[in-house]
Amino acid sequence: MEDIKVQMLEEFKKIFGDSDNVRVFFAPGRVNLIGEHTDYNGGHVFPCALTIGTYAAVRRRDDRELNFYSLNFPDKGVVRTSLDDMRPKEDDSWTAYPKGVIWAMQGRGMDIPAGLDMLIYGTIPAGSGLSSSASLEVLTGEVLRSLYGLKDVSNIDLALIGQYSENNYNGMNCGIMDQFASAMGKKDNAIFLDTSTLEYEYAPIALKDACIIVTNSNVKHSLVGSDYNTRRAECEEALSELKKVVDIKSLGDLDEDTFEANKNVITKDNCRARAKHAVYENRRTIKAVEALKKGDVISFGKLMNEAHTSMSVDYAASCPEVDVLVETAWKIDGVIGSRITGGGFGGCSVSIVRNDSVETFKERVAARYKEKTGLTADFYVVSIGDGPREL
Ligand code: GLA
Repeated sequence: MEDIKVQMLEEFKKIFGDSDNVRVFFAPGRVNLIGEHTDYNGGHVFPCALTIGTYAAVRRRDDRELNFYSLNFPDKGVVRTSLDDMRPKEDDSWTAYPKGVIWAMQGRGMDIPAGLDMLIYGTIPAGSGLSSSASLEVLTGEVLRSLYGLKDVSNIDLALIGQYSENNYNGMNCGIMDQFASAMGKKDNAIFLDTSTLEYEYAPIALKDACIIVTNSNVKHSLVGSDYNTRRAECEEALSELKKVVDIKSLGDLDEDTFEANKNVITKDNCRARAKHAVYENRRTIKAVEALKKGDVISFGKLMNEAHTSMSVDYAASCPEVDVLVETAWKIDGVIGSRITGGGFGGCSVSIVRNDSVETFKERVAARYKEKTGLTADFYVVSIGDGPREL
């Protein structure tokens, strides 16, 4: 981290002239272990923050200008705007995320008295489903909180502000999971979050003989304007039909039996299938965390496998490439569980693999993936890190 801080300061100097009074911040990405597409259905999720994420070197200005530069998008150059002109613009590109957060904080009546120069560097592969956008949102919130002394803003507020800006400024109707995981991350722990109440509990991930591996299909998933919003709408349609026969607020209120007994009230096949996933996935997540607490990693892995099938078949939110990654993993000795992670439609799988099988896992998955798709997969052994902070 020290090295990266020095590098960030040097880069800041190159772009903005000098690095006097510049501060450096970080916010993590996340990987979700189980509980997919449950967060906007009032269900449970079980993500953890990563040690990869997004960095900012930032300095408060005396005027109201906002100047953004990303080392990941050098072609865009310095993108300039002002605190007095926060409307979304066509050429905002990546700056729509920090701008959205500033806009959301202003909207909450927070005093942002001066502009800033901000240089960004992200270590999460874009479009991988590891929440590069949420980490940038939480990072911006952390920067503003620190620079402008917004002491009353909690980390949960940072998550809610990030989600609000993503929903209302960026047009992506995401749930709270990604921003919550980034804002509330804790080293070596996953977060068991009830998205209907925001009650949460940390669960230590001590896998003794195994590790968590994220495999990137390198099939980019772009959730803005994608099938994600459609899935959400399908769940809402199913919920409104179910509400006519059962007294529930969200799909997360249903257990499997009550769903089965009432599912025929849902008229469209696709909506029934999406609701089935949401209900069963929420229950699986609760069971998986119970298993993990008892040290039963094998049951946890089985539930991960079931979760993948449900995501792929009932939710239609996988893709052929990630299915190859997961189905290959299932056949390898030493793989305890494997599934697609994140919003889907591309991105990454997450697998629990015994330490003595990691090399075989990488070799076999890489070879099979290349053979079936012509693409190259990337592998990352996950380290679970802390939430946002100043370096
Ligand atoms: C994306 C969204 C999250 C969540 C997941 C699916 O990552 O941002 O809110 O819905 O997809 O679990």
